[in-house]
Amino acid sequence: MRFSARSHSLPASPIRRLEPFAEEARARGIRIYPLHIGQPDIETPGQFSEAVKKFSHKTLAYGTSQGDFGLIDKIVEYYGNYGIPLERKDILVTNGGSEALNFAVQIVCDPGDEMLVPEPFFPAYAAFAASASARIIPVTTRAEDGFHLPSRSGIEKLISPATRAILLSHPGNPTGVVYSREEIETLADLTVKHDLLLIADEVYREFVYMDELYCSFGNIERIRDRLVIIDSVSKRYSACGARIGCLISRNPEFISLGLKYCQARGCPPTLEQLGAAALYETPDPYLKEVNREYRKRRDILFDGLSGIPGVVCKKPEGAFYIMAKLPVDDAEKFIIWMLQEFSVNGETVMTSPAEGFYATPGLGKTEIRMAYVLNEGDLKNAVKILAKGISAYPGKTLWPE
Ligand SMILES: Cc1ncc(COP(=O)(O)O)c(C=O)c1O
Repeated sequence: MRFSARSHSLPASPIRRLEPFAEEARARGIRIYPLHIGQPDIETPGQFSEAVKKFSHKTLAYGTSQGDFGLIDKIVEYYGNYGIPLERKDILVTNGGSEALNFAVQIVCDPGDEMLVPEPFFPAYAAFAASASARIIPVTTRAEDGFHLPSRSGIEKLISPATRAILLSHPGNPTGVVYSREEIETLADLTVKHDLLLIADEVYREFVYMDELYCSFGNIERIRDRLVIIDSVSKRYSACGARIGCLISRNPEFISLGLKYCQARGCPPTLEQLGAAALYETPDPYLKEVNREYRKRRDILFDGLSGIPGVVCKKPEGAFYIMAKLPVDDAEKFIIWMLQEFSVNGETVMTSPAEGFYATPGLGKTEIRMAYVLNEGDLKNAVKILAKGISAYPGKTLWPE
């Protein structure tokens, strides 16, 4: 039997593909600090399960393809508070931000089309691009520059007649970058000038640790009809398993094309939409408190990493990830070694190899991504174990200063 070349070309997730090594370690009784995946340990607000428990219909029927208006109205209200006026018709509810991303890429790209994506990027972007037979054209950013964007001309020279969209996460996964108003304006200018779609993945919008005000791409009026926002309750309300996200656009053609994908998949899950709608009613202090907690964790991880000889990283401005260059021959080999051969008092650490977060071959080979989603005590232990691991690793190298 023959399967499609397109499916073969899909990259496996660098975040999940080393799980079997973790399973083996757990089977040997090793405790693993999971820094490899953005699975927050914060409790999901109780409103979610309370709303689900109140469901009393005798039949769990299909809902509408667009999504439940109870939830959509909450999303409209949330965006109104951000100064982004939306109407019901601008929103399609999806199975997580992931489905929203997949639909957005399918809607904008024909085979061979290109999307500019700042790298390192969330690896699912590469999988969705591959499934649309589209190409990612990386806009390379570096830890040394805090993963901020190159100059306008540096970006513009990557745009070709095949370019259809700019896709980025803001705040950034895996970089933690929060773009300045100037960077946002530059991207908006290029979007308009070259007749592109801007796909702004803003699922980490509430996780910004700078004092300046966060600017959403939704606040830039001149890209109003060429902007798609990807959103989700997964990280905002620590509800990754709810699988509720949405696709937002004030371009009616985009929405009517998107609706066909929504119809093909049927509808989003009924109970989870009820729960998600209730999450949007979570009292305001919740998000502020969660933000404070992540800011504290960021500082613990960053300070800990900065104290390890040879490790290079920049303090992230948002999201809950950090990229670090390690003084090792190969980050993936190091991660596997940590799982197979290293532990301190029966404990070890799992991180993600960063190579799969880049489209440019060879980049990220000695980098890892970590998610600071563990409590203070666990995070401190994890950094100590990581430091000991680096020092004991046989493939340790000296990092050139
Ligand atoms: C940047 C970014 N976008 C989208 C998603 C998808 O989130 P979900 O499908 O859980 O809503 C993630 C998940 O980690 C992410 O990091």
